[in-house]
This record gives sequence, structure tokens and C-alpha cells, in this order.
Amino acid sequence: MDLIIKNGTVITAKDTFKADIGVRDGKIEVITRSLDQMEAKQIIDATGNYVLPGALDAHTHLEMPFGGTVSSDSYEAGTRAAACGGTTTVFDFVIQGKGQGLVEAVEGRRALCEPQACVDYSFHTAITDLTPAVLKEFKQAVDYGINSFKVFMVYKKEGLMVDDGVMVRAMIRAKEVGARVSVHAENPDVIDMNIENFLKEGKTHAWYHYLSRPEYAEAEADKRAIHWAKSFNVPLYIVHLACKEGMDEVTRARQEGYDVIAETCPQYLYFTNEVYKREDGRNFVCSPPIKGPESQNALWDGIKRGDISIVATDHCPFQSYEKDWGKDDFTKIPNGCMGVENMYPYMLSEANRGRISFNKAVEVCSTNVAQLFGCAPQKGTIAPGSDADLVIYDPEKTYVISKDNMHSDVDYTIWEGVELKGYPVMTFSRGKLVYDNGNFVGEKGWGEFVKRTPLT
Ligand code: URP
Ligand code: ZN
Ligand code: ZN
Repeated sequence: MDLIIKNGTVITAKDTFKADIGVRDGKIEVITRSLDQMEAKQIIDATGNYVLPGALDAHTHLEMPFGGTVSSDSYEAGTRAAACGGTTTVFDFVIQGKGQGLVEAVEGRRALCEPQACVDYSFHTAITDLTPAVLKEFKQAVDYGINSFKVFMVYKKEGLMVDDGVMVRAMIRAKEVGARVSVHAENPDVIDMNIENFLKEGKTHAWYHYLSRPEYAEAEADKRAIHWAKSFNVPLYIVHLACKEGMDEVTRARQEGYDVIAETCPQYLYFTNEVYKREDGRNFVCSPPIKGPESQNALWDGIKRGDISIVATDHCPFQSYEKDWGKDDFTKIPNGCMGVENMYPYMLSEANRGRISFNKAVEVCSTNVAQLFGCAPQKGTIAPGSDADLVIYDPEKTYVISKDNMHSDVDYTIWEGVELKGYPVMTFSRGKLVYDNGNFVGEKGWGEFVKRTPLT
């Protein structure tokens, strides 16, 4: 064997059991009660620790041009941080340029990512120019390994928004080719009206970012997207769901038997809209904004019920000097927060504190992502034949998040001072140790493209 992990408690989305794991050529070869008689190049004693599948972050924006700048984690920095937080695959968003083909757009980003990636990666495409040729090309994109197409219901001035006709056409075509459309759901016109009024009144603090796009601005768009998904009986994935009304609508649609899936993010589960009143409130500016406690509770309840299927980060950080552009005008703050290194440790800490089970944390951060986006059982579980993407987790470790113990390139973290119960101590990517007790020990260029299969 290349690697044996002994004496750990293995936790998957379904089971918890004591076992030894043998790894050869990057794959899990055997899981058994004892591998004491077996030799290996590397043997790790995981006594007292848990062994989990690596997380898959279904939502990142690495070195993405946005908000008048470029998000500040490169593919190298973002995937390095991912490894150090137990995330072994990231799904990054490729924004289609006007007039550009989808596969062409993905290949451009893939060329940028490949020499830098420290963990494995896949892409979603974001559609901005849905010509008949692009609709036809959905099939080629699926054959290439991309089975998810995103549309923005906002960001009109930024040139990213699509109308409902485009959204519905994309949804119908996606279903035909074994793919799924995801939506960023907020109502652009009401948000623009609110912004105009606040600016006229001289209301420019980050708190007005929240007030310009509060619960109702997201809820209407969540409901509209679900309305179209139901009307045409097509699959839908709502990214970064953050409000109670949207959560209720997702739950209703699922109870009625529709293929509506929702993702939320750790920032919506830990913080509330109160953060926007803080002096550094601009650092928390993301869209949709973090909502009030009622919404936060609804999201946690949704996770427990199974109506939130995925927790992902929407990792899209900007340096503090860039966030400072909006010190006196919230509309100038580049939108996005960090989280790629925090998601799995935070969700596991909540499990360790008893809010959810460890199996549930594994399910929403890892297994469901692989299953719903076509890369299971290669990813997202601990089973013979699966990639040896493994995290060793010490449930007794206390960890206080600080900019100084993070591994991205950003000069602050919104998670500063947050105390976690338990923390990953080692991460393996296809059997290779990439994180070891506080240190990144992997290498750039190690990460591989994950070709996903069509959805059924
Ligand atoms: O504020 C955010 N979420 N920035 C990243 C782009 C997006 O909307 O997902
Ligand atoms: Zn978004
Ligand atoms: Zn996003």
C-alpha cells in the first residue's frame, strides 16, 4: 500500500464505524477492521480522530474579474486554502464572455487553473449570452464534463443579468442534455430603486447594502425561479439561498415532488445582518446579503430536514483596500466574502457541538455535491475505488480562526476570532498529504480536472 490510515473512526454521510483504510495509486483500495499485517510507505495512526471524505466546495470564484477588480485569491491561493480546510475539490465559476462559446470559455479558465491547482477542480459555466449556437453547445459542454449552467437574475449594470426568457430556455435545454441550471436569485429592479433612494438621502454605510436588498428582494426571485422550474418541470439549483421565504418555497416545491435543490453558505449560517452595522461592515458585503435571525434559523432547519442539499462557500474575497473603496458609498464595495478554508471546519464544529450530526455535515459539504453534480462515487465518500480524498479530524482540538492561521492571499478574514470545536489535522488529496497540522504541504499543479457525468 502507499498509505494506511489506522484506528480512526470513519464517518460517511450514512455510517460511522471504526476501520483501517488502505490506499494505493490515489484510490481507496480497502476498508477493513484491521490492516495490522499490511505494509505501507506511509502509516498514519488516527486513534481518537475521525476520518472523513474531503469536502467539495460547489461554489467558488477564484481570480474572477468582478466588481471593477479581480477576486483576490488566485487558483493557487484558493485551492491551497481549500486543502488546509479539508476541501479537496472546488467547483469554480466560468463566466461566459459575450459572443464566446461555453467550452472555449471553460478551456480558457482551465488553462489558467491547471498549473496552479493544489486540489482537484471542476467548473460551472455562467451564461451571459444565450445565442441559439450556445443553446446547442450545452450538449458539447456536458460531453466535456460540465453539467451545470448558472444564470444571474441580478447584476444588470455589470452585464451579467439574464431575463426570464433566457433563464427558462436554458432550464429546458439543460434538462434535455442531462444538466441543471442554477440561479443567483434577487430582484434587480427593486434593488436599483432602493439604492437610488438611499444614495439620494445620503445613506451610504454598508448597512444600506443590506437594506437595499433585504429578505423580500431575494424571496421574490427565489419564488419566480421556482415558479418557472415547476411550470416547465425542469431541474433547478438555487445558489446561496439566504432567506426564510425562499427556504419555505424550496421546501414546498420539494414536497410537491419537483427537482428543486438549494445551497446555502456558512456566512448565512453563522452571521446575521447585524454585521453590516459594524465599522468593518463592508467586509461582509456579499449578494445576497446576510439576512436576519429568522432566516438563519430557517436555513438551519432546512439543513436538518434535508431541504438544503448543499453547503458551499461562494468564496469571492477582495483585499481590504478594495473593500475600502466603499467606505463612504456601499455601492462601490466589491461583493463577495471568503470561506473556502472555513466551510468544512465550521460545519464539523457545529456537528461537534451537537447542532447536526457529523454524517449530516459530510452529506451537505461532500456527498451530496458529488452525487448531485455527477462525480460520485469518485468523490464525496469513503469507499473502495473512490479517490483517497480524506480528512483526519481531531474532535478535541480548539481552533480560533485568524487571518494569521489562514492560507489564502487575503489580508483579513470575516471569520476572525471565531472559535471552533475540533479541527482538521491532515488532508489527503488522492492519497497525497496536502495539509499537515497547520501547514500546507501540497504542491501547485497537483490538482486535476474532474470530468463530471451527465445527470439523470
Ligand atoms: O457577493 C457575491 N456573492 N459575490 C460573488 C458573485 C456571486 O454573486 O455569486
Ligand atoms: Zn451569486
Ligand atoms: Zn457566487
